[in-house]
Amino acid sequence: MAKLKWGMIGGGEGSQIGPAHRLSAGLDGYFEFAAGALDHRPAAGREFGQRLGLSQDRSYGDWREMLEGECGRDEPIDLVTVATPNATHFEITKAFLEAGFHVLCEKPMTMTVEEGEEIVRLAGSTGKICAVNYGYSGYSLVRHMKAMVARADIGKVRLVMAEFAHGHHADAADADNPRIRWRYDPAQAGVSAAFADCGIHALHMVSFVTGQQVEQLSADIVSCIPSRELEDDAMVNFRMDGGTVGRLWTSAIAIGRQHGLTLQVFGETGGLRWAQEQPNQLFYTPLNGRMQVIERGETNLSPEADRTTRITIGHAEGMPLAFANIYADLAEAIRAEKEGRTVDAAANLYPRASDGLRSMAAVFAVAKSGKSNGAWIDARPPMFR
Ligand SMILES: NC(=O)c1ccc[n+]([C@@H]2O[C@H](COP(=O)([O-])OP(=O)(O)OC[C@H]3O[C@@H](n4cnc5c(N)ncnc54)[C@H](O)[C@@H]3O)[C@@H](O)[C@H]2O)c1
Repeated sequence: MAKLKWGMIGGGEGSQIGPAHRLSAGLDGYFEFAAGALDHRPAAGREFGQRLGLSQDRSYGDWREMLEGECGRDEPIDLVTVATPNATHFEITKAFLEAGFHVLCEKPMTMTVEEGEEIVRLAGSTGKICAVNYGYSGYSLVRHMKAMVARADIGKVRLVMAEFAHGHHADAADADNPRIRWRYDPAQAGVSAAFADCGIHALHMVSFVTGQQVEQLSADIVSCIPSRELEDDAMVNFRMDGGTVGRLWTSAIAIGRQHGLTLQVFGETGGLRWAQEQPNQLFYTPLNGRMQVIERGETNLSPEADRTTRITIGHAEGMPLAFANIYADLAEAIRAEKEGRTVDAAANLYPRASDGLRSMAAVFAVAKSGKSNGAWIDARPPMFR
């Protein structure tokens, strides 16, 4: 089959996440980079797009121009990635879904729960894919962890402990640094800072691995740098619909922590631990047994892990390859649709618009609970209650 055509909005030169998307979308040969509106500065976006190999007429200066241009082509893009700043995600995602395109949107999918519900409805009514880039769920051993939990290797899950705590906003001298200050300004960041930026990744991982959804939560939020209006640290307790108890710590002032995403799952007959900074090992301890180290790339782990590993065991695979597994899932879904067949179940794991919506409901619940002395709040979006 010919390569699928892929387009990107945002991710211009010097952006944080643009290179990871371009590496990962192109890695397995499923997608050809065909169109882009890469920068908020039209000329810079056009120039960079052409330098990356886009044709002149598909290196657009603006996403609306790209939408119009692609709608008018015989062979438009099959998938568009939205990797612009947060406040623009809803408008761009909505416009491309309405025009009949499949979308992979960066997190957070929207800024409000209402917008999230609108996107979920729109994805349903158009039948188009709206995926959200919770890219860490693409790691091979995270998928294996999910498979182990699903086949009850650790029994019923009692407790999960998730962390996404870094120390990159810990310097009080940075309080007025414009590159950091906006993140703690409600007018630009919304109702939450650390939790909305990092905590939602950890919370998505919890649901992805356990197959359960958060029902209620209680949050203790704090601005350790007092001039910040939004939190730079949060501890969140939650309860899930399968009975699992959850704890989540997210922080931006944890000096010495770099990325800091870890997940521990404790069941009745075993425990699992995985950390993003050491993603090629999964630690498994059976009840009354010794800890075992499961290596990425071992043969016959699970179908979900086997199809998401590329490099020989012992050689590290990292974040862009995890993102590539999300793109491989999307390629499989789009190809299955074109070929009129069902999607390979082991590949049907990309995060959905419903995950993006649940995150947004959790963000608002954390903000509300944090302001109400840690009151327990219903964390489900109204449409899923
Ligand atoms: N999934 C992840 O792990 C992960 C990691 C980092 C960032 N992100 C998300 O990715 C998004 C981008 O983050 P970043 O750190 O790369 O930001 P950034 O500020 O480094 O880059 C943003 C890019 O988007 C471009 N842009 C801005 N407005 C635009 C518009 N209207 N049209 C076209 N291009 C536009 C800018 O010119 C720039 O090139 C954010 O939503 C962020 O939350 C996700």
